[in-house]
Amino acid sequence: MIRYQRETSAMVTCINSTKLTIWLGLFLLGTAQAQLSTNYYSKTCPRALFTIKTAVHKAVAAEHRMGASLLRLHFHDCFVNGCDASVLLNDSSTFTGEQTAGGNAGSLRGFTVIDDIKSQVESVCPGVVSCADILAVAARDSVALLGGPTWPVQLGRRDSTTASLSIANSDIPSPTMDLSGLLSSFSNKGLTAKEMVALAGAHTIGQARCVVFRNRVYNESNIDASYVSSVKPNCPNNGGDNNLTPLDSNTPVIFDNGYFKDLVSNKGLMHSDQQLFNGGSTDSQVTSYSKNPTSFHADFAQAMVKMGNLSPLTGTKGQIRTNCWKTN
Ligand code: HEM
Ligand SMILES: *[C@@H]1O[C@H](CO)[C@@H](O)[C@H](O)[C@H]1NC(C)=O
Ligand SMILES: *[C@@H]1O[C@H](CO)[C@@H](O)[C@H](O)[C@H]1NC(C)=O
Repeated sequence: MIRYQRETSAMVTCINSTKLTIWLGLFLLGTAQAQLSTNYYSKTCPRALFTIKTAVHKAVAAEHRMGASLLRLHFHDCFVNGCDASVLLNDSSTFTGEQTAGGNAGSLRGFTVIDDIKSQVESVCPGVVSCADILAVAARDSVALLGGPTWPVQLGRRDSTTASLSIANSDIPSPTMDLSGLLSSFSNKGLTAKEMVALAGAHTIGQARCVVFRNRVYNESNIDASYVSSVKPNCPNNGGDNNLTPLDSNTPVIFDNGYFKDLVSNKGLMHSDQQLFNGGSTDSQVTSYSKNPTSFHADFAQAMVKMGNLSPLTGTKGQIRTNCWKTN
């Protein structure tokens, strides 16, 4: 950044024309924020994508839920100052990361899988592939492996040297939010209501803890009675906060449209899930995805690319971390 400011001010003295200077300044800003591309590592680390995919396959084969956990890591990374691997930075006595944020603490998992992938990629091409890109590729490979769509991942993100606990607390949507809060949380990131509904379809895989849906199961009325009876035994009124229940009641490890079928049957597990189908503006999109898995898959893939493009660090910004859990 400093380098670009210097170049710009050098041009101010040289050219001494305000309009042209502004134009040049904008041009330099534009080039400083280089585009991501799908072939970013094709020359510098041709084995990167295969190495990541193989490791993801191994981890998901060992535990299907890991595919869900890796997908969620990428989401929680991208929603806090963009996809820059800030979510991976450990707290230390001198550094406050994002892992103690409300939406992350005791909940995010998959860190050691990412660390393991990173060390494999480092041994193939040291210092080349960012942790932020590994998260994006691991999310894509996880979804594909569990029967979901695939997409060409844009690459070239660099890793942050900072993290923000306060932005993690404010920008990651909460399971107690109503539809209006969910919509603004996504529109704050430039994502439309339709993209939000598609992305929430990620809850067709993975699990949630009793503590995040207890109030819904014990207190809400827009929930199917037999579903309530099936969920309550594993989520008592008191205790069992960390007991897990699948977010998709029928096909919890298949990336299908089961989540939307649940919602139209009032079987959304969390308050925020059922908000997408509760008489509001997103009902019709949920109904549509519940009937058409192909359009869900296509829209999910498109929305993942868009989410993955949120404010990447490119050019000389950030760094390529050696270890994903700490800055160099
Ligand atoms: C719409 C707003 C969203 C809210 C309020 C929300 C909230 C949550 C909560 C509370 C959990 C359970 C966490 C726990 O019990 O520890 C969860 C799980 C999950 N979320 Fe979301 N989420 C949202 C959107 C998304 C998006 C956009 C994605 C990815 C594209 C995603 C992917 C996942 C996955 C895969 C799981 C299961 C993780 C696992 O089993 O390890 N969520 N979400
Ligand atoms: C940092 O987090 C990783 C998981 O990403 C963990 O394996 C490691 O032990 C942690 N390191 C320190 C020094 O806390
Ligand atoms: C149900 O709602 C009441 C009133 O808001 C609250 O005090 C109670 O904790 C809730 N029950 C559960 C299980 O969340």
